[in-house]
Amino acid sequence: MADAGHVPWWRDAVVYQIYPRSFLDTDGDGVGDLRGIERRLDHLVWLGVDAVWISPFYRSPMADFGYDVSDYCDVDPRFGTLADADRLIAAAHERGLRLLVDWVPNHTSDQHPWFAESRSSRSSPKRDWYHWRDGRDGRPPNNWRAAFGGRAWTFDDATGQWYLHLFLPQQPDLNWSNPDVVAAMHQVLRFWLDRGVDGFRIDVVHCIGKDPAFPDQPAQLGEIDRVGIQNEPTTHELIRGFRRLVDSYPGERTTVGEVNLGDLPSIASFYGRGDELHMVFNFLPLHAPWTKAAWQDVIERVAQELPTGAWPTWALSNHDVRRIRTRLGGEDAARAAAVLLLTQRGTPFVYQGDELGLEDAVVPDAHRVDPGGRDGCRAPLPWEPGPSHGWPTPSPWLPWPPEADARNAASERDDRASMLRLYRDLLALRRRSPALRRGSLHLRDALDDVLAYEREWGGDRRLVLVNFGDREAEVPLEGSWAVDVASRPQPEPGVVPAHGAAVLAPER
Ligand code: GLC
Repeated sequence: MADAGHVPWWRDAVVYQIYPRSFLDTDGDGVGDLRGIERRLDHLVWLGVDAVWISPFYRSPMADFGYDVSDYCDVDPRFGTLADADRLIAAAHERGLRLLVDWVPNHTSDQHPWFAESRSSRSSPKRDWYHWRDGRDGRPPNNWRAAFGGRAWTFDDATGQWYLHLFLPQQPDLNWSNPDVVAAMHQVLRFWLDRGVDGFRIDVVHCIGKDPAFPDQPAQLGEIDRVGIQNEPTTHELIRGFRRLVDSYPGERTTVGEVNLGDLPSIASFYGRGDELHMVFNFLPLHAPWTKAAWQDVIERVAQELPTGAWPTWALSNHDVRRIRTRLGGEDAARAAAVLLLTQRGTPFVYQGDELGLEDAVVPDAHRVDPGGRDGCRAPLPWEPGPSHGWPTPSPWLPWPPEADARNAASERDDRASMLRLYRDLLALRRRSPALRRGSLHLRDALDDVLAYEREWGGDRRLVLVNFGDREAEVPLEGSWAVDVASRPQPEPGVVPAHGAAVLAPER
């Protein structure tokens, strides 16, 4: 019988997102690689995260920097080899770190052999693995727009039909209503589960089901791209299919889905009845402005609108949006945001480099490479001061982020007041406090600009105070409290500096 008190590891975990191109290069081509990740696993253990999610490292022509996969079951030579992946999985496990890989089910690369076969002729046995349609009087089959601009259909001269791509033309959408596609993609999951990965981050999973009639989207939605609204009921059955597969493996393998829909009820539906995704990304905090009202609203809505048993997730940044520090514009607020992130109820995801307080790199026009304009947040991680920052080359694929001589792992390790040490302190605190990892969350009345909430679990309690205001705030406290971790030095537990935040513990 299942132990009622048992908490699966991923609910207790903090996950660190690695963008492999920019983590650490070891072979001198200016692009990070799997050996670079392996080399710094001890640093991640020192930092105190529990798991890593690695953005795609599969074979890819890199039109979308790895999210256009041409072989799901091999490692791109820029990142290393399959043997490197096996070593990395083993090395992570030896250190007690879990490892999630990124699975991209909605689309392949146009260079994937499946698509080459599919586009070769109308009678190809793989024709129906993708969405091919006739046009309407020389125009595309419907009015859908693709994510990085332009229409979501491309005409293929060879066979005189259009194929669907919700992203770039180099990313044709798979046809998940075809059982052969389902079987082939399940094989991919098995391939990585058999190699020992602990689960998957699943790319734009809400997009995989399609209405075969491909109706136009209503004119009132205008030119909005399809990815933000694609939400077919058939997707849920497909997700239940891979949930069953993942759950059939021992060791609490897990899934976290990217559901890029703006509203929480839609996001919530992807947990199913505990039979769909284990976790779903919640995009609200990525866009919340730095005000008490906005954050209180996000916290309340997550509590109210996710069904019981749907375990929330929290993230401040990822490889698709501007970094939190860039969005907030200052170090103090970014430090307070770290306190917010790591004291929420739900699994936090830390995007590589936020723990160093990095800002987006300024990328001159001539060096821009991403079709989605996301280069800034993908700049390489500086490991040390000095021209090459611990990389084998001083000029990696993107420029360094600002102030890399000060904001780098080595310098910040030695500086008790650094952002890195704040993250480390918060991660250690979360580890030792069941209230922060698992407990209930109750918002408390506080002063105007101060957000206050209490976490509680089995007698363990913490009070979190976040001051969004420009002035020091003195919060009247009931009972006697001591500062566990504060984002800025505090004269007293209840006195929070401007844009400061603190976690307090009751004094016994
Ligand atoms: C997801 C990824 C993003 C990628 C897109 C297409 O949104 O996070 O980086 O461009 O899917 O795969």
